Formats: sequence, structure tokens, C-alpha cells
Amino acid sequence: MHLGVNIDHIATLRQARLTTYPDPIAAALLCLEGGADGITAHLREDRRHIQDADMEALAALAHDGKLHLNMEMAVTNEMVAIACRLKPQAVCLVPEKREELTTEGGLDVAGHQARMASAVAKLNDAGCRVSMFIDPTREQLDASKAIGAPVIELHTGHFANLVGEAQEQELQNIREAAAYAKSLDLIVHAGHGLTLENTSAMVDIPEIEGLNIGHAIVADAVFKGLKQATSDFKSLIQLF
Ligand code: PXP
Repeated sequence: MHLGVNIDHIATLRQARLTTYPDPIAAALLCLEGGADGITAHLREDRRHIQDADMEALAALAHDGKLHLNMEMAVTNEMVAIACRLKPQAVCLVPEKREELTTEGGLDVAGHQARMASAVAKLNDAGCRVSMFIDPTREQLDASKAIGAPVIELHTGHFANLVGEAQEQELQNIREAAAYAKSLDLIVHAGHGLTLENTSAMVDIPEIEGLNIGHAIVADAVFKGLKQATSDFKSLIQLF
């Protein structure tokens, strides 16, 4: 299973003081040393953490073969143009609302199929492998398949926030969605809200090929450093 480390919150710390440190690029390299298979970064429309220059620097490293870059972005003309110019190996399309603290739900691919299809076609043409960040429902999986996205990332944020029976039900939804996605020949990733405590539930799902984890790794890094925090997740993933 592939571990993508999301480095947005290294940039959050920098932007909190508008300093030049901590450098998200240096952080990305440490995550790779800790066993990350790829780096994920979200260029938000409001530029609250990752800045254009960060994404340019990450893309340059990706082009030099030094890292696998997954650029998260909203489905806007501005972002599609940036991704088509930078050509990261992977792009993950996510919903974005200015007032949200973090990505709150999956993308409504089924409700905006034409707009999504046009963005996916441009990104596919630019050579980026596109993933749709969606809730675990058949409707969104069918729509993602229909518009030609090769990958889907299942939103695990609700699972992470729930407890007890409700969490077990959401886990079951994720299991069923992963199996259905595989039957449609989609590559299955998952992410959001994953921690050392809840990640093994995802690792147990055989169809899931990759996890994207950010906030918990950066938070753990405060206590044990970024390389160790990354390698603890990598070991957990490899246990299964
Ligand atoms: N995957 C996607 C599509 C996301 O938007 C995010 C958050 O930026 C993550 C994974 C990582 O979530 P977290 O920071 O909660 O680990």
C-alpha cells in the first residue's frame, strides 16, 4: 500500500507568521526519508497554506524524478490551468469552500458531470493521473467512472469523526465502495482524518492501494520528528 504524505500543514505553520520557515519542500524530503511513497499538497484558492511557489518547487522535484507529486485542487479554470502547466504525476480533485476548516465532504461528481468531465479530459491530456475525492457511494463511483477518471479517493473523514455503531456502518460503506470501485476497474485510494489509531481499518481493505495522510503526521511530528512520524505510519501500513 502506497503512503502519500500531505505536507499542507507544514505550510500552515509558516503562513501563521508569514515567515520563510518551516519549508514544506525540506519537509517533503524528510517524509520521503521516513518511507513516504509520494507527497500530496493542496493549492487552495485562498492560498491559506501551500503557495504557488511551493507547488512549482514540488513539481520541479517531481520532474527530476525525485518525488511522486499528487496535487490536490478544486475544479476551477485557474487550478486546471496551473496543473496543466506544472504537470504533476497525479491530481486529486476536491471540493472547496472558503469558510471550511478542511475538506468537509466528497466531490459531487454525479451532480456536476459535464464540468468534471471537461476538467478530467484536460488533465488526462496533460498526462496527470486524475483522482476524484468522493464519498463512498455507488452514485459517485459510477459518475467518476463515466467521466473517465482512473482513480478515486474515498473520503474517510466521516469515518474518522464517528464512534461506535455509526463508525462501523461508515466503515462498511467504505468497504463496499472499495469493492464496487474495483469491479469498475477504478484504482482505489482513501484519506482524510486518518491517525495511527484508525488507519489499520483502511489497511485491512484489500482494494485500497494508497492512503493520503497529513494532519496526524504533522501533529505527531511535533513530538517525534517528521521522519519518525512518517515511518510509524509506513510500518503500520506494511504490517498488513
Ligand atoms: N485526501 C484529501 C483529498 C484531502 O483533501 C486531505 C486533506 O487535505 C487528505 C487526504 C489528508 O487529510 P488529513 O490531513 O486529515 O490527514
